[in-house]
Amino acid sequence: MDAFEYRNGRLYCEDVPADDLADRAGTPLYVYSRRTFELHYDRIAAAFAELDPLICYSIKCCANLHLLKLMVARGSGMDIVSGGELHRAMAAGVDPARIVYAGVGKTDPEIERGIAAGIGCFNIESEQEFENIDAIAARLGRTTHGALRVNPDVADPHTHAKTTTGAKETKFGVDIERARRFFHTYGRNENCRLDAIHLHIGSPIYSAEPYVRAINKAMTLIDELRSEGYTIDAIDLGGGYAADYETGRSPAYEAYAAAIVPLLRRRNLRVILEPGRTIAANAGILLTQVQYLKTGGSRTFAIVDTGMHHLIRPAMYDAFHFIWPTRAPGMVPPRRSAQMELQLPGAGLQTYDVVGPICETGDTLAKGRALPKLSRGDRLAIFTAGAYGMAMASNYNAFPRPAEVLVDGDRATLIRRRETYDDLIGPEMNPSPL
Ligand SMILES: Cc1ncc(COP(=O)(O)O)c(C=O)c1O
Repeated sequence: MDAFEYRNGRLYCEDVPADDLADRAGTPLYVYSRRTFELHYDRIAAAFAELDPLICYSIKCCANLHLLKLMVARGSGMDIVSGGELHRAMAAGVDPARIVYAGVGKTDPEIERGIAAGIGCFNIESEQEFENIDAIAARLGRTTHGALRVNPDVADPHTHAKTTTGAKETKFGVDIERARRFFHTYGRNENCRLDAIHLHIGSPIYSAEPYVRAINKAMTLIDELRSEGYTIDAIDLGGGYAADYETGRSPAYEAYAAAIVPLLRRRNLRVILEPGRTIAANAGILLTQVQYLKTGGSRTFAIVDTGMHHLIRPAMYDAFHFIWPTRAPGMVPPRRSAQMELQLPGAGLQTYDVVGPICETGDTLAKGRALPKLSRGDRLAIFTAGAYGMAMASNYNAFPRPAEVLVDGDRATLIRRRETYDDLIGPEMNPSPL
């Protein structure tokens, strides 16, 4: 699952003690394991190998340039959603033909850049967006490709309301009925060639079943469109495969593949996958230090030097992240399970709310969590934080964002320096008349 493990009560990332990294780079600190990143990419590639898919790592989940370069070296393409992500992808050296570009609000300059770069395909979310891309391609004298994003109206009941996207009433894509009309109106345009179908039904999706329902609906649509003479070359299945936030909760890649591959075998379609979290989540942890301990009524708070500004998932999605001290001599860390929230403190354990310094009650990383007795200065590791961690970090309350470190065996590299107070005010220097 990942390369973060306890040896004699000390947390290691690959072969480097987590505390050594925090001693050198301070906290809060994002730590990534190269081995884990690559392992997850390789496993998904192997599971779906029969379809020879184009894997486009979804860079929104974790977009540090050095991690993107690792993915490119592995053969990955990239799923992007903005001009900024295009810039990152190009800087990482990805072949632009292996870029797919989704997002409901692409601006003209973003579209122009995408076309000029020669990206593989725009994942198209609305009629107006299609018309705009087609017109811009014509103006530039270029041809580009479009995949229509279709909402198959399936949802995984376990997916948080804020991350389910495949239902009829979302801002993403169009429903199946509208997809037919979409092709009738635009399916023979020349400047933006509509020749693929895109799905992304939400994330994390904890079983293969919603994908199966979505693909079956999409295949019916594709068969109909083909019988009407439209060319459909590719199907993009999006991302959303669950990560192991809790040990053993998410299906193995092989389980998703066993259900999905037979549906797409010999269908004469190029298959595109857009995994994000399933590659990055388990490959990263966030190290933090306990600043203060405090009681409030019946609760005990461990106040740490990170919070919702650096890892917003608990506040935004009620997400579970396993937390354990970097050093807990004589204690075996429990299985990573949300059930811990309900556990009564056992031998040597106390119940804490782990909270950050932000002036919001919602700045809670874990509630009622059984942990070894904590003291000021102890360090905690927040696990499965590689995806939608640093990528969603902000400077709220004017806290600089954490540094990022990549561990490869026994070597560690600072791949993003810690922000400084001057970084916070830099863009506000030198005001000029407008
Ligand atoms: C279009 C699209 N593709 C892929 C992904 C990646 O999802 P995940 O990181 O859950 O695999 C997302 C996530 O929001 C998305 O919107």
